Amino acid sequence: MIDRRSFLTASAAASAAGMLAACAKKNPAKSAGSQTGSKQITLGFSQVGSESGWRAANTQSVKQAAAAAGIALKFSDAQQKQENQISAIRSYIAQKVDVISFSPVVVTGWDTVLKEAKAANIPVILTDRSVETSDPSLYVTLVGSDFEIEGERAAHLLEKVLAGHKGPVKIAQLEGTTGAAPAIERAKGFATIMHASHPEWKIIASQTGDFTRAGGKQVMAAFLQAHADIDVLFSHNDDMAIGAIQSIQAAGKTPGTDIKIVSVDGVHDGFVAMSKGQINAIVECNPLLGPQLMDAVKVVHAGKGSTLPRWIKTKESDYTADQAAAALPSRKY
Ligand code: AHR
Repeated sequence: MIDRRSFLTASAAASAAGMLAACAKKNPAKSAGSQTGSKQITLGFSQVGSESGWRAANTQSVKQAAAAAGIALKFSDAQQKQENQISAIRSYIAQKVDVISFSPVVVTGWDTVLKEAKAANIPVILTDRSVETSDPSLYVTLVGSDFEIEGERAAHLLEKVLAGHKGPVKIAQLEGTTGAAPAIERAKGFATIMHASHPEWKIIASQTGDFTRAGGKQVMAAFLQAHADIDVLFSHNDDMAIGAIQSIQAAGKTPGTDIKIVSVDGVHDGFVAMSKGQINAIVECNPLLGPQLMDAVKVVHAGKGSTLPRWIKTKESDYTADQAAAALPSRKY
């Protein structure tokens, strides 16, 4: 395992965790399973959808952590549609839940509904993905990964994968859902390192596969039709990479050898593909956000939201194919 997280990030995570624990201690009636106070906390949660293995693990983590914390969870799956998320949030406002959390499918277009939540005095915690807003007071905190750093980590992993390679490198990029924070920021982070350090790298094709296997398969097939000479695939998640592997094989090429693959997530199936040498390296993006989210919910419900950091980041690592088989048995998702 190559731990790419800096000391500062680890310290920030530790201090956020410490802050959450300290706040919980100060407010035991609100935090001890949320059943010891006068009323159980109700959390309304709007999930993006079920587009990937990452999302399935994230959903399970949120549900299990809510149950373990004694928080009543109202859960809805937006099927990757912003209008469904907005409806779900409005329904949670109407039901007068204590706290609302959601993983926004795209970054823009949330201010109106977030103002409605604020007017109803219901605090909002973002999870997994960020939003663009002119009013930062519309949400309390974000629990999730730094996707731009993930993009930079992907570029650094590609440097390792290409060690010894001479000459130009033609890269195809499978983007996540258009307008989603991880798609925008992973592309940005990767491009930053590429432009700063690798004039020999060139992105020759880039298109969304919507974070799904079917999308990755279809778009990679089109990439291969248009470009016979792709050296590298950078996929914004494992599911699209797994779909792309099928198209690469169908085109008579060997994934991981003829076309090097770097992807993001670190889900079980991604590790299986990496242990077979089909994916060369994976940037881990941790979906197990449930426990940190429930800790934050308790703090916010206790009226101490202002003590939380604006961004509670998760701890993650990077993996290359030679580490995959050893790491696979201990993967948690
Ligand atoms: O927001 C996290 C991203 O969403 C994951 O990388 C991807 O697999 C999921 O769909």
